[in-house]
Amino acid sequence: MKNLMDLSGRVALVTGAGRGIGREIARVLASAGADIIVAEYNLETGKDAVEEIKGMGRKSYLFEVNVADSASVKALAEQVYQQLEAVDILVNNAGVSGNMLAEETPDEEWKRVMGINLDGVFWCCREFGSRMLERGKGSIVNIASMSGHIVNDPQPQTPYNVSKAAVIMLTKSLGVEWAKKGVRVNSVSPGYIATDLVKGVLDLNPVWKERWTSMTPVGHLGETTDVAHAVWYLASDAAKFATGTDLLVDGGYTSW
Ligand SMILES: NC(=O)c1ccc[n+]([C@@H]2O[C@H](COP(=O)([O-])OP(=O)(O)OC[C@H]3O[C@@H](n4cnc5c(N)ncnc54)[C@H](O)[C@@H]3O)[C@@H](O)[C@H]2O)c1
Repeated sequence: MKNLMDLSGRVALVTGAGRGIGREIARVLASAGADIIVAEYNLETGKDAVEEIKGMGRKSYLFEVNVADSASVKALAEQVYQQLEAVDILVNNAGVSGNMLAEETPDEEWKRVMGINLDGVFWCCREFGSRMLERGKGSIVNIASMSGHIVNDPQPQTPYNVSKAAVIMLTKSLGVEWAKKGVRVNSVSPGYIATDLVKGVLDLNPVWKERWTSMTPVGHLGETTDVAHAVWYLASDAAKFATGTDLLVDGGYTSW
């Protein structure tokens, strides 16, 4: 039987692949056979990721980008296509959060979160999606969040929640618009994932830790590999009938 999840010969671009969930996505897609473009704001972690992927026997390339800046994303696409013939898989992973009461949120903070989490996803979908459309094939996976479905507790994070809800609708809209043109667009919505950063935050906030864990039916946080494997499925031909959909990977959180 043909292995539909084999990514040999494919090129995947992952934004924010320097650390956390993006780094794991890069690793898992590389394990499945893909060459990896690391598109990062942080060149130090980006370089480290590229070295790791090369160590796995795949090709890997580092490009600098600020996804919030459409000119930077345009320049990224131009540079990528100068060096490589095609990008088969785009994973829009780069994102930021912020905890602040809504009534105290300044313009800059609202714009920062929307700029990276929503505008950034759209700029990348537009620049790389248009080239995928010309080619008649491609798979885009956006990293949304369960926060696009529910309101988290106890931390206030209205801009984040709104940005992720918008990513889910952006995914549906593009999924439908591009469905007959060979480009699939899906999203993955993680619940709480124990990245190094999240572990550090929870060590300082035992109340959050207890709340997050007790509100997750499986009783613990997820691992970065849980998200990366969902991305792998959606990116691959195994998901050829899936487009415009959002895959929740949240330990049951949103089902309660
Ligand atoms: N960690 C969780 O529990 C969790 C849960 C749900 C969704 N998510 C989402 O998963 C994604 C990754 O989260 P993470 O926890 O790994 O975060 P992280 O902060 O550990 O990593 C984010 C990466 O994105 C890069 N980045 C940030 N701003 C950028 C920009 N403007 N341009 C290019 N790169 C930029 C950073 O350099 C970093 O490498 C985000 O979209 C986040 O919202 C995370």
